[in-house]
Formats: sequence, structure tokens, C-alpha cells
Amino acid sequence: MGQPKRTHTCGELRAENEGKRVRLMGWVHRHRDQGGLVFFDLRDRYGLTQVTLNAETVESDVMSRAHSLRSEFVVAIEGMVQLRPGETKNISMPTGEIEVFADGLEILNESEVLPFVLDGHTDASEDLRLEYRFLDLRTPELQAVLALRHRICQAARRFLDSRLFLEIETPLLVRPTPEGARDFLVPSRIHPGSFYALPQSPQLYKQMLMVSGFDRYFQIAKCLRDEDMRADRQPEFSQIDIEMSFVDEEDIYELCEGMMAAIVRDATGEELDIPIPRLTYHDAMNRFGSDKPDVRFPLEIVDLSEAVEGSEFKVFAGALEAGGAVKALCVPSEHGLSRREIDELEALAKKNGAKGIARTKVGEDALEGGIAKFLSADEQARIIAATGGTAGANLLIIAGRWSLVCKSLGAVRLELGKRFFTLDPDELRFLWVTDFTLVEEDPDTGQIVPSHHIFTMPKPEDLPLLDSDPLRVHGQLYDLVLNGVELGSGSVRVHIRKLQEKILGLIGIGAEEADRRFGFLLRALEYGAPPHGGIALGLERIVMLLAGRSAIRDTIAFPKTTRAASLMDGSPAPVAENDLKGLHLEMRKETHD
Ligand code: AMO
Repeated sequence: MGQPKRTHTCGELRAENEGKRVRLMGWVHRHRDQGGLVFFDLRDRYGLTQVTLNAETVESDVMSRAHSLRSEFVVAIEGMVQLRPGETKNISMPTGEIEVFADGLEILNESEVLPFVLDGHTDASEDLRLEYRFLDLRTPELQAVLALRHRICQAARRFLDSRLFLEIETPLLVRPTPEGARDFLVPSRIHPGSFYALPQSPQLYKQMLMVSGFDRYFQIAKCLRDEDMRADRQPEFSQIDIEMSFVDEEDIYELCEGMMAAIVRDATGEELDIPIPRLTYHDAMNRFGSDKPDVRFPLEIVDLSEAVEGSEFKVFAGALEAGGAVKALCVPSEHGLSRREIDELEALAKKNGAKGIARTKVGEDALEGGIAKFLSADEQARIIAATGGTAGANLLIIAGRWSLVCKSLGAVRLELGKRFFTLDPDELRFLWVTDFTLVEEDPDTGQIVPSHHIFTMPKPEDLPLLDSDPLRVHGQLYDLVLNGVELGSGSVRVHIRKLQEKILGLIGIGAEEADRRFGFLLRALEYGAPPHGGIALGLERIVMLLAGRSAIRDTIAFPKTTRAASLMDGSPAPVAENDLKGLHLEMRKETHD
């Protein structure tokens, strides 16, 4: 016979259970020992229940165990549910109307003193909390985030199942997948000198499943990328990964909107406004300076290229002559930007590639100060008209290459948004960003690289430009954005081998390399590959935003630090020389030290 089972959880008992004999198990949360009376809150995932032991009614061996209790001991108690007297009721606790008068107490396990307190106000360092992640995960905040993650996964599964999708797993040991990040490599013991890669995404495999005729696939897929970490990046993360056959972009928008609506409904109880608004990449950059705009605040970038056309002011003239742009943010006088604040914003713009910020102010009927002296009265009037600025507004103007102007003003815009607007995390402003080009020029190397990935189908109307002007070809390619975060990316795929080879050629992958790296996909395209397309949504980013958190680390049970380490299990860790030998590897001395 094992232990008698618990009859209830610690979050379950209410006034109507009065007089019931119950058995609860959980952790000692807070406890108070008054000699004759011992009180403690018993905690489990479901809540807290107050337990009371009274020396007058409880056997002495039980009472002596009660005196030995410490925080986080695991115990089983048995006793009677009683109503708490009026003044001791705790309405902030769901179980606050009752307490359990225990006459039985078993200590199931003891606990060392915790390295930090679990009350949410701990000043323990992040590193310490990550080292003892299994304890940090006892906090209701993190338990709630992981429960939300579970609900989001279930909502996605239910929705996709109702739309006839099949959940199919793809391998974790694969040939390198080209998603643009570095691969984690796994040496093969059986094939000396050969390596598997851990998948950056199931991209090629989900396409193969379409060739196999599965028609509608999804997977909550683990993806692994060896890239530099940010608040919204981890080396291991999960995608809600989707692929469908015989579809166009519209089908994928409709499907994703339905799924996001189901997820938001389950997570927040709110109804999502669908269809989700769309913005072309070009408009997103022009108006918000970002391909993942946060549109919760109204400040927009204004184009001044026409207003300053023909200007003698060298900074503007030079940018326009070189085919660039002149753009501005107009900050109304009520925000009263100081010179120092503008200096800070300029430093931010420079960090994002701008040469500087040309500044001036809107006066009564002309510009005042800063660069005003370099501009004719007409130019000043046109600038004021274009920005719609009223007296006292600060104009922050950047001239230069279009992409740099947009990007740097976009960074300044976001900073202004944080300073002057309330960015409500509960306001969910979804956006589709569409009409990306198929490929783009890497500003640093001048190389042509895919805007998303190399399997994207060009827009049919742009196909003729593939040979003559590839940089102007748009892809059937889209991003889903929420409150300034890229939630997901996808595309309609190339399903014709010749076209796929041509696109690979565009980015400098010749027939031989193509065959070596993606030969298995190219071969599959020869055997009746259906037209298909899909999308992948970052699960942790969805959870982060719906939970109102600011880092995806909080949405992962056992995350890595910004240096890609797990402080809890101490990975990555050196391995014994013998293990390396078994894998036919040898550590180079200098990298080992
Ligand atoms: P992509 O590489 O754009 O597309 O990834 C899709 C989404 O995955 C999430 N994501 C990440 N989340 C956390 N940490 C990371 N390091 C990380 N990297 C990406 C983002 C991103 O929008 N196979 C294609 C999808 C497709 O075409 O169907 C792909 O993986 O939310």
C-alpha cells in the first residue's frame, strides 16, 4: 500500500467544504509557530490553503513535527475544513474563507534553506535564479507563464486539428538547414568526420511532407540556432510551424488570423479584430522606420525629399543626388525635447547608421534655429507643411541612404514612443508586413542575400525581372508582427526545380553546391511537388507578449543565459578526451584553454 492520496489541491477548498475531512499535500509556504498554535500556508500549483495545528487537540508527536517545519518542506496533512472567524478571513486568497484544522501531519521531505525567497520581490541576482531555476519556477508568476504557454499550444493544436492539419514530427539530426544563422553541429560516431546539424527550423522537411501529399502539416517544432542572443532570441526555441498545399498568400493569412484569434481568445478572453491590417515593407519602413513597426503610438516619419528638392543645403542635396532620402520626425512642443535629449537621440541614430540629426524648430511662420539658416523661406514653408508641425515642434531630420534614414529614424521613433506614450502591453496591435523583395543587397558585403529564405516564390508579375533586375523582384513573403515584435515569417515556396536553381544562382549558389546542400529537396521537386506555402510563428514570442513579459527567457522552463549557457545544469561543458576520441575528434590546444 502506498501513501493515501490527497483529496484536494491547495487551491480548491471553499466555505461550502466546511466540516469535510481532507488530506492535502504541498510545500510549506509561510509558517508561524506560536507554541500552542502552529499556522502555515500549504502551497501547490493550484494555490494556498491555511493549515492550523492546535496543541490542545493534536497529539504531541504530530505537534512536535509541526514545530520542526521549515519553509519549503513537503508535507501531507489531514484534518477538518473550518470556516475562519470573520475578522481572520482573507478575501485576497481564493481559499481565504476557510482553514484546515489538521490532526495529522507527515513530513514527506525536508528542504535546505532556499538561496532566495520565493515571494516575487526577491533581490536575488538573475544568475542565481537561473542556477536554481527549479526553485524560481515555484513562483506563481513563472508558473502562470508556463501555464499560459501550455494553453496557447493547446489552442493552436485544437484550431489546426479542426482545420484538418496533421501534427507530424521532423528529425532533430539533419543536414544543415539554411535559415541564415549558424548551425549547432553534432559529430557522428558511426561516420567519422561527418556531422549532423540540429535543425534551425523544419523548413525543408515540411516542404518534403507537401511533396509526400500530406497537404496540411503543423508541428510545435524545436529549432536550434547558434546566434547572438537578445531579449527575443534564445538558441533553442519553438515554432508553431505550418505548411499547406494548393494555397496562395491569402489562404495563409486567413488561416493564421483564425489561429491567432483562437489563441488570443484562450489566453486573454478578448476577441481579435480580424482581418489583421496589412502594410507593405516599403510603407512600414517609410512611415515607421521598421519592418516590424509598433503602431500603438501615432508618431510617424515624414518624407521631406520633395520639400527639400533643389535645396542648396549640402547635407540634403548630397543625399538626394545619391538617390537617398531626407526624412523627419516632428515632435510636438508639448513633449518639450531638450537639447540634451536631442543629443541622446542623435547618438541613438548614429548607432543605427545615421551620420547625425539635422535639427530645427517650427516657429510662428518659419523654421527657427539649427539648420533653418541653410534653408530658403520656401523650403522652410514646404517642410512645415509636410510635417504638419505647429509652433514649438522639434524637427529631427536625417538625410542619407533610404534604408539607413528609415532605420535610424525608426530607432529614434521607438525611443520617443517609450518616453512620451504609454505603450499598453494589453493593446494587441497585429500587422501583416508584406511585399518584401525576394533578395536584398547586404549593405556591408554588397552580396545578394535572400530577404527571407531561398525557398520563397517570386510574385508572378515580377518573374520577368529575375534576370534583368533581381533586386526589384518581390517575393510571396510576409511577416506577422505584434507590438513591434516579429512573431512569424513565411512564404509561398518555389515548387519548380528550374526556378529554385535559378534563385539559388542569384545568391551565388551554383549547381554543384546546390546539389550538395539541398540535393534532396531539388530531387523531391522533380516528383510532382504541389504548389505550397506556409509560415512559422515564434511560440515564445507569442507567449511573451500575451503574458506581458519583456524577455522570452521567462516563457521557457529551462532557458539559456545571454551567453548561451545553462547555469542550472552547467552546459555547455567540456567532455572527456575519450569521448572525443570515440567521435573521432581532437581538441585543439589553444581553444581548450
Ligand atoms: P524565421 O527564421 O523567420 O522563419 O523564424 C520564424 C519565427 O521564429 C521565431 N524565431 C525565434 N524565436 C526565438 N529565438 C530565436 N533565436 C528565433 N529565431 C526565430 C520568430 C520568427 O518570426 N522556416 C521559416 C518559416 C517559414 O518560411 O515557414 C523560418 O524559420 O518569431
